[in-house]
Amino acid sequence: MTRCKVTVFAKELSVRIKKEVREGKFLIATSMIIFLSMASLVFFLGMFINNHARNFFLSEDPYFPQLSTFSSSSPTPPCSYIFCNCSLSSSHSKLRDWIAPENVWHSMNDEELLWRASMVPQMEFPFNLTPKVAFMFLSRGSLPLAPLWEKFFRGHEGFYSIYIHSSPEFTREPPASPVFYNRRIPSQPAQWGWPTMIDAERRLLANALLDFSNERFILLSETCIPLFNFPTIYNYLINSSQSFVGSFDDPRAVGRGRYNKRMWPTVSLSDWRKGSQWFEVHRKLAVKIVSDQKYYPIFRKHCNPPCYMDEHYLATILTKLHPEMNSNRSVTWVDWSRGGPHPSRFVRKDISMEFLNRLRHGFNCTYNGGRSSMCFLFARKFHPSTLESLLRIAPELFGFDHQ
Ligand SMILES: *[C@@H]1O[C@H](CO)[C@@H](O)[C@H](O)[C@H]1NC(C)=O
Ligand SMILES: *[C@@H]1O[C@H](CO)[C@@H](O)[C@H](O)[C@H]1NC(C)=O
Ligand SMILES: *[C@@H]1O[C@H](CO)[C@@H](O)[C@H](O)[C@H]1NC(C)=O
Ligand SMILES: *[C@@H]1O[C@H](CO)[C@@H](O)[C@H](O)[C@H]1NC(C)=O
Repeated sequence: MTRCKVTVFAKELSVRIKKEVREGKFLIATSMIIFLSMASLVFFLGMFINNHARNFFLSEDPYFPQLSTFSSSSPTPPCSYIFCNCSLSSSHSKLRDWIAPENVWHSMNDEELLWRASMVPQMEFPFNLTPKVAFMFLSRGSLPLAPLWEKFFRGHEGFYSIYIHSSPEFTREPPASPVFYNRRIPSQPAQWGWPTMIDAERRLLANALLDFSNERFILLSETCIPLFNFPTIYNYLINSSQSFVGSFDDPRAVGRGRYNKRMWPTVSLSDWRKGSQWFEVHRKLAVKIVSDQKYYPIFRKHCNPPCYMDEHYLATILTKLHPEMNSNRSVTWVDWSRGGPHPSRFVRKDISMEFLNRLRHGFNCTYNGGRSSMCFLFARKFHPSTLESLLRIAPELFGFDHQ
């Protein structure tokens, strides 16, 4: 039927064309032929691209160009959590950088920094976070024992963070030191014995607190050395139920004698404690220290030489704030046995494995409620001349110390 009709139509058309050509209407006939062939071309082309066109219009949402590009071009489903394996989403990597910033430099002043560092999440982390130990170096200039620390840290990336507070005029980066490179924080002049030293310590803590994966915070100087290998020290600190801030009541003039009555009633003589500057604290205490606005101004005003804020401030406020969280002992060994205002400094000839082993196992203390001979994890003060000897015994120092 249809075929017949088409044939009839074609016949009529040809007759008509002939007729029209005959009648001299050649131009009209030509236009009709062109029109018909164009129409069929459009029809078949439409059939061909139909599927593509449908896909195109359904997937391309003009209002969410990024979203649709993401869903149509990514073979794997988009990430829903912060630490999934996803390099496409910039907002996720921004959040990751906010949780554990890679760059330690910033333009905040102390007030802004302390405020920001005082933030505490009120919920559990919705992902796994490997707890890190923050090693905070308070140094005047360079770190002469850096090569020993390099050996100590090597292979344990992801379990530690490093922060260096040095004199602001000291801007030289440690050359070829992957561990210490770019770890300097914005620093201010800090003077031994003066409140500016506490400011430097709080600045270090605050910078380290910005990384939410930092769980323990240890203050070290450029003359400090580690006494055990990294895993031993890491486990010792991460597993510890208490912090290690030296704190004791010294009845002598160099203890209670430095108490100033004007601190009363905020700080009374019975609260007054003394302790080593070289502290180790849990994150919870670190937040308390950076956000202290009650005791800090009192100490700053009334504890100036011969009262040394770095020997009394932390020892006293932790006793006031969280006595149960402190072991009251420092994990950094120092030798006061020779007397005088400064502890002994060790030079090349003093270094031997026997000497270090005495520091490693020659004491009695309490650890997590039990007795332990492992009381010190770090030691000071080591002169730069000790580096060579220390590097020589480093394999023994770091190699075989299974707790
Ligand atoms: C992320 O993906 C890369 C390549 O697909 C892979 O090598 C890497 O191990 C993944 N990382 C994690 C944390 O899954
Ligand atoms: C300390 O933690 C490690 C894992 O981080 C664990 O293997 C070890 O048994 C713990 N030690 C103690 C004494 O709790
Ligand atoms: C540390 O000292 C405080 C205050 O004197 C005390 O309450 C606390 O029990 C001490 N901690 C230990 C482990 O001795
Ligand atoms: C530590 O304690 C043990 C056993 O109580 C004792 O034998 C040892 O002499 C003590 N060591 C020191 C350095 O006090």
